[in-house]
Amino acid sequence: MRSQILSLAATAATLSQLVSGQTSTTCNPTTNSTCPSDTALGKTITVDFTQGESSEFTAESGTTITYGTSGAEFILTSTGEAQTITTENYIFFGKVEIAMKAAPGTGVVSSCVMESDDLDEIDLEWLGGNTTTVETNYFGKGNTTTYDRAIYEAVDDPQDNFHIYTIDWTSAYVKWYVDGTLVRTLLYADALDGKNFPQTPMKIKMGIWDGGAADESTGTVEWAGGYTDLTNAPFTMYVANITIQDYTTNGTEYTYGDESGDWQSIIISDSTSNDTTSDSTGTTTATSNSTSGSGSSATSSANSSTSSVATFTSGVAALSSSYFLGVVGLGLAVFYL
Ligand SMILES: *[C@@H]1O[C@H](CO)[C@@H](O)[C@H](O)[C@H]1NC(C)=O
Ligand SMILES: *[C@@H]1O[C@H](CO)[C@@H](O)[C@H](O)[C@H]1NC(C)=O
Ligand SMILES: *[C@@H]1O[C@H](CO)[C@@H](O)[C@H](O)[C@H]1NC(C)=O
Ligand SMILES: *[C@@H]1O[C@H](CO)[C@@H](O)[C@H](O)[C@H]1NC(C)=O
Ligand SMILES: *[C@@H]1O[C@H](CO)[C@@H](O)[C@H](O)[C@H]1NC(C)=O
Ligand SMILES: *[C@@H]1O[C@H](CO)[C@@H](O)[C@H](O)[C@H]1NC(C)=O
Ligand SMILES: *[C@@H]1O[C@H](CO)[C@@H](O)[C@H](O)[C@H]1NC(C)=O
Ligand SMILES: *[C@@H]1O[C@H](CO)[C@@H](O)[C@H](O)[C@H]1NC(C)=O
Repeated sequence: MRSQILSLAATAATLSQLVSGQTSTTCNPTTNSTCPSDTALGKTITVDFTQGESSEFTAESGTTITYGTSGAEFILTSTGEAQTITTENYIFFGKVEIAMKAAPGTGVVSSCVMESDDLDEIDLEWLGGNTTTVETNYFGKGNTTTYDRAIYEAVDDPQDNFHIYTIDWTSAYVKWYVDGTLVRTLLYADALDGKNFPQTPMKIKMGIWDGGAADESTGTVEWAGGYTDLTNAPFTMYVANITIQDYTTNGTEYTYGDESGDWQSIIISDSTSNDTTSDSTGTTTATSNSTSGSGSSATSSANSSTSSVATFTSGVAALSSSYFLGVVGLGLAVFYL
């Protein structure tokens, strides 16, 4: 179970002790050209866990979540345990806002992670023994060879108070916020000229796990703050609600067009099409470069000109800019300028 929430941050710590990593993906599109497409969220959802379970999330096997008046309760009671839920759908750039209270307890890790099939990752993690910070981190293509990406940002007692944490992710930047205050900005160019920049469709995972378990590597235990003392268990992480916005709207599937892992290679399948395999019909391809911050576009080559078309936007840049609609051939194109 542990590996299901084990972030690359923990793996980076682990790697200082082990020769090989522990991260895995069901099918890595940068090494396998026949991976299945990712289903797109394509819209904005708000899940209020105080109202109970949500079909937007799937529990990993072995996971039991309790729902109460404070929201979803991720409870760790015994050694090596992990409780993890994951979205079925992916976002291709977007915003994730989570209202949560981290679990206490040295060694206990609370986690909200965005992760793609080729191991791009954007993290928020809370170490139970540290009552003053949240760890922000990121990885590109599972590259854990340097250990300078994690930045610990100040938070007022995250294990005792609900706070709102936000990740705003575009092709140009990743921004982390705590209670609406920007605490960290990562620019595309600053992530090894984009090579380490997270840029492929992501699902959202959250949960609790035992980073300080006796059978964890020394590196992981050190990162987690020390061995877990279960005499004080259970340790509970509470998630009141989460809002997930897919900046690519109305797409149905995201498909890696090649093995580059570049965001420009991702094919956005149009919701109006019934053909997701051909790239000459029924698909929508993001063709513009929004890393300049001046906007982006999505061009549809779908055969329908009547209904919705996948629209690729780039967060604030797109919202603040003018746009026009045009009909291109048999499809629709939306340009954000
Ligand atoms: C590539 O992915 C497909 C679909 O998941 C799988 O069946 C196949 O075994 C994979 N090939 C390799 C070489 O891993
Ligand atoms: C919490 O983390 C910060 C950043 O790494 C560190 O400076 C501080 O000493 C930590 N606090 C505890 C109690 O470990
Ligand atoms: C991994 O990242 C490090 C620095 O962040 C870089 O030196 C190295 O070239 C990267 N590896 C690959 C395969 O991109
Ligand atoms: C989410 O939970 C926080 C903390 O309880 C609350 O302040 C906020 O109003 C909630 N937001 C939504 C959309 O339910
Ligand atoms: C899509 O195509 C499949 C196979 O050709 C067909 O069974 C299905 O009914 C079609 N769906 C729609 C919504 O047209
Ligand atoms: C995207 O724009 C940036 C900044 O303007 C530029 O450096 C980069 O080469 C462009 N990439 C592509 C694929 O056009
Ligand atoms: C889309 O249009 C092209 C050209 O008109 C046609 O050849 C193709 O069969 C159409 N595809 C579908 C799925 O209707
Ligand atoms: C996307 O879908 C929503 C909901 O169906 C619709 O309101 C919106 O107009 C669509 N956007 C585009 C660009 O088609």
